[in-house]
Amino acid sequence: MTITTQSTSTSPLSKALSKARQSYAEKNPSSLKAYEQATKSLPGGGTRSSIFIHPFPLFIERGEGTEIVDVDGHVYLDFVSDFTSGIYGKTNPVLKKAIIQGLDNGLQLGAHTPTESSLSSALCDRFPSMDLLRFTNSGTEANILAISTGLHCTRREKVVLFQGGYHGSVLSHFGEEGGGGDLKVPYDFIVCPYNDIPGTRDIVQKWNDEVGVIIVEPMIGAGGCIPGDPQFLQFLRDLSTQIGAVLIFDEVQTARLGTGGRQKILGITPDMTTLGKFFGGGFAFGAFGGKEEIMSLFDARQPNSISHGGTFNNSPLTMIAGLTAVQHILTEDNLNKLNKMGDGLREELNSVFQEEELPFNITGLGSINQIHYTPTTEKRQGLDLLFFYLLDRGYWIAQRGLISLNFAMTQEDVRGFEIAVVEAAREVGSVM
Ligand SMILES: Cc1ncc(COP(=O)(O)O)c(C=O)c1O
Repeated sequence: MTITTQSTSTSPLSKALSKARQSYAEKNPSSLKAYEQATKSLPGGGTRSSIFIHPFPLFIERGEGTEIVDVDGHVYLDFVSDFTSGIYGKTNPVLKKAIIQGLDNGLQLGAHTPTESSLSSALCDRFPSMDLLRFTNSGTEANILAISTGLHCTRREKVVLFQGGYHGSVLSHFGEEGGGGDLKVPYDFIVCPYNDIPGTRDIVQKWNDEVGVIIVEPMIGAGGCIPGDPQFLQFLRDLSTQIGAVLIFDEVQTARLGTGGRQKILGITPDMTTLGKFFGGGFAFGAFGGKEEIMSLFDARQPNSISHGGTFNNSPLTMIAGLTAVQHILTEDNLNKLNKMGDGLREELNSVFQEEELPFNITGLGSINQIHYTPTTEKRQGLDLLFFYLLDRGYWIAQRGLISLNFAMTQEDVRGFEIAVVEAAREVGSVM
């Protein structure tokens, strides 16, 4: 297989990037071999487009705490944390014990379990908008079910969502930056500008009584960690009430900003909420829930109830791991500490970037942040170069710039990372 590390551009940044890719390819022969093997059965050698790395991805063999080790034996401190779902680190002992006990109870019970209702009850207690909920297997599935439920309730067809939003594999609206090649579920979408009250009002008012659902991330996550303005989110709350649409907060990422997600922090209560990622304690997870009048449509005791299936919706191990995490790890105190560490990281790096006029900034909230390359040209190359320079220093971030903290990290780990990012950013700045 031919691996391209050369760029056709001759700018200093492109040349430096070609050199960095070349050096990466030389340092990672076993990953290259694993990649070549993987491409024989997986398109692009993998099964998640978001984790692909150009020229080829690193193949990771194992992890412990916050470290990961690749097949060539390199050790990295992991600042991706599985795109926010790996909030517990790789080997949390409390989860491990609960999972082993869960294995002893048996897999695939195929029935209602007490653990399932303990987890749903704990989540309903946390999220102001959730009187009742249902579990799914992913955030994507939770969003599809929530949207379909909202459309069913309102007997309408249009779904308002926002430019740059990501609600799952078949529900993303990145526009040009995402390459424009995403598959989409065939809802009747109306795409509005995020954080833009007049812009959104102007578009929505053309279809007021046809809009069944407004779905929004309280902070745009995969689209670049852009926090939603509280006024904008309140405007969406008021607008939904006014036009009779169901407002859904997708808190798949933002749920970790506090015990009741961003909705509790801001005191804005949507009609429905979706969750995912870390509430499965390391296993595939999703949930959608909301007001009793909406969610009781799924109540099998009612004659016209909506049917909702899913073999693994209440998978015993997921329920046990999730409940253990909610009861013992995702405490207010732990979440506050983690988010404070992330706020500190963002503020410190932004202040150094500004002071030294380095070509980066960071946006985000708490423990979820995104580094951006600020020049308007060669945006992707600037971030890629930073990524390779950080790898050289033993730190792993998402190639697209996402930085997500986890509970296995110490303040010293974060301090070491800050120093490495500044050094790497200086190095990128010096080749421009
Ligand atoms: C805000 C948001 N919603 C939904 C999803 C989809 O979740 P999943 O990958 O579990 O399908 C994601 C995943 O990154 C997300 O960030």
